[in-house]
Amino acid sequence: MASVDVKVKQGRLETEAAEVLVLSQYEGEKTLSEEAAEVDQALRGLLRDLLKSGEFEGKSGQTSLVHTQGRIPAKRVLLVGLGKKSSATLDTVRQAMGTVTKRVRAIGVRSFATPLHGRTLPGTGTLLLAQAMAEGALLGGYQFTVYRTTSGEDTTSLQAVTLLEPGTSALPDMKEGVRRGVAAAEAAMYVRDLCNHPSNVMTPTRIAAEAKQVAKERAVTVKILEQREAEKLGMGAFLGVARGSHEPPKFIVLEYKGGGGNGRGRRPIVLVGKTITFDTGGISLKPSENMEQMKADMTGGAEVLATVRAAARLKLPLHVIGILPATENMPGGRAIKPGDILKTLSGQTVEVQNTDAEGRLILADGLTYASRLKPAAVIDIATLTGACVVALGQFAIGLFGNNDALKDRVRQAGATAGERVWEMPLWDDYFEQLKSDVADMRNIGGRGGGMITAALFLSKFVGDVPWVHLDIASTDWSDRERAYIPKGPTGIGTRLLLQYLLNEAAQTAARAKTA
Ligand code: BES
Ligand code: MN
Ligand code: ZN
Repeated sequence: MASVDVKVKQGRLETEAAEVLVLSQYEGEKTLSEEAAEVDQALRGLLRDLLKSGEFEGKSGQTSLVHTQGRIPAKRVLLVGLGKKSSATLDTVRQAMGTVTKRVRAIGVRSFATPLHGRTLPGTGTLLLAQAMAEGALLGGYQFTVYRTTSGEDTTSLQAVTLLEPGTSALPDMKEGVRRGVAAAEAAMYVRDLCNHPSNVMTPTRIAAEAKQVAKERAVTVKILEQREAEKLGMGAFLGVARGSHEPPKFIVLEYKGGGGNGRGRRPIVLVGKTITFDTGGISLKPSENMEQMKADMTGGAEVLATVRAAARLKLPLHVIGILPATENMPGGRAIKPGDILKTLSGQTVEVQNTDAEGRLILADGLTYASRLKPAAVIDIATLTGACVVALGQFAIGLFGNNDALKDRVRQAGATAGERVWEMPLWDDYFEQLKSDVADMRNIGGRGGGMITAALFLSKFVGDVPWVHLDIASTDWSDRERAYIPKGPTGIGTRLLLQYLLNEAAQTAARAKTA
C-alpha cells in the first residue's frame, strides 16, 4: 500500500486550493463551527443553508459534500459530523478522520486539507489532536490486497493530507504530533498486515525474518533462539507447544537501546507478545467454525515487533526489549497430549489438561526469560482467552497486573490511544482452580473466570517485577468495519504500547530536566 504524506502547513482555509477542504460540526449545534462560519462567508452561505435544511446534523459518521463553484480556491468542502459535543473525546477526532479518508477515497480524490478538529476537547492539546488526526486518516485507508490478483486496491488510495493552521505558534507541536501519529498508524498497519497474512506464509520462520528486517533499523539488535538453544535453556513449556508442528519454533528477542533517558545502561522495559502463528487447539482440537481467525493468534507478538520498530524509528530515549515466543499449535504425532507434564523455564511443572490453553504455556517461558533481564517493567500482550471475548465484548482490553503505578500508566496510554483497558482481579483465591494432583499447577482453571485464571497462571512466572498482562482476544479481530478499524485483524493494542513508551520517554525527559 502506498503511504500517505501528512503535511503541516501555515495557511488560511478560505484561500487554500485544496481538492477537498474538511470542516467539522458537532451534532445538534444550531450554528456553524467557527472555522466553517469563516469559510461560509466566502461561500456566501452554502454551508449555512445545508445546516438549516436539516440534511446534515453533525451526527458521528455523517458527511456531506458541497461543491464550491469557484467561490473559494478549494474545489469541495466536506462536512464531517463529530456527534454530540458532550460525549466527544480524542477518539471522536480519530474516527472523524477515518470517515473522511473513506469518503474522499470514495469520490476518487487523492488529497484533502483540514484544520485541527476538536480544539475545545478537555484533556487534549495541539500535539495529541494532530497525532490522532494523522492516525485516523491513515488507519481509515487501510486495505490488504496482497493476495488479490484480479483487482488492485478497491478504489483510489489517498496520497496527501494537509493540516492547515492559520498561525505559527502551534506548528511545532502539530509537526511532532504528525510524526508520532504517522509512526503509530504505520505500526498498527504493520500488525494488520502480519495478521492478515495466512499461517502458511506467516510462519515462525517468517516472523523471525521480519524481526531481522526490523533489526536493520538503527540501534535494534535481534537474537533468535532456535529449538536446540531453547532446549538447552530448558524452555519446556514453549517447546511442548511446538512439538505438534513441523514448523521450527523461534524464540525471538529484539533489543532497542535509544540514547539518553533510560536508553543506555538503564533497566529495560520488556514487552512480551504471544506469537502462535496458528492455533488449531492441538490435540484438544478447536471446532472448525471461525478457526481461520486463529491465524491472528500471533497478534501480541506482531504488536511487540511493530512497537519496537516504531520506538526505533521515533528514536525514543528508552531501552526496550521485545520477546516473541513463536510457534504453531498443531495436533501432530509428536504433539503434547492432555495429562502430559511440562517443565517450564522457571523450574515449575505444569500438567497440560487442555492443549488449547497453549498461549499461557509459551508466555510462561517468555515471562521467565523477561523477568531475568532486570526489567523496570514487563508488559505482556496476548490473544489469550475466549473468556475475555465473553466478558468484555469488542471495546475493552482485559488488564491485569501486580503494580498499581504501572497499571495506571498503561490505563492512561490506552485512554489516549483510544484502545481502552478494563481491569480484572488477580486475586490468589482463584489459584485453587489451577491446582493439579500431579504437578505444581495445571494449565486450565475450569468453568468460571477463564480470563482471570489464565492471567493468574501467568503471574506465577514473573516473580516480583512490575508486570501488566493485557488480554486482547476481545479486540484483535473485528467482525465489522468501523471508522478507522477494518473488518478482520485490527492491530488494537499497538498504539497503546507505543503511547505507553512515548509517555515513559516524556517522563524520563522531564526527570532529566529537573535533576
Ligand atoms: N487463542 C485462543 C484464545 C482466543 C479465542 C483468541 C478467541 C481469540 C479469539 C487460546 O489459545 C485458547 O484457545 N484459549 C482457550 C483456553 C481454554 C482451553 C482454557 C479458550 O479460551 O477457549
Ligand atoms: Mn488455544
Ligand atoms: Zn491461542
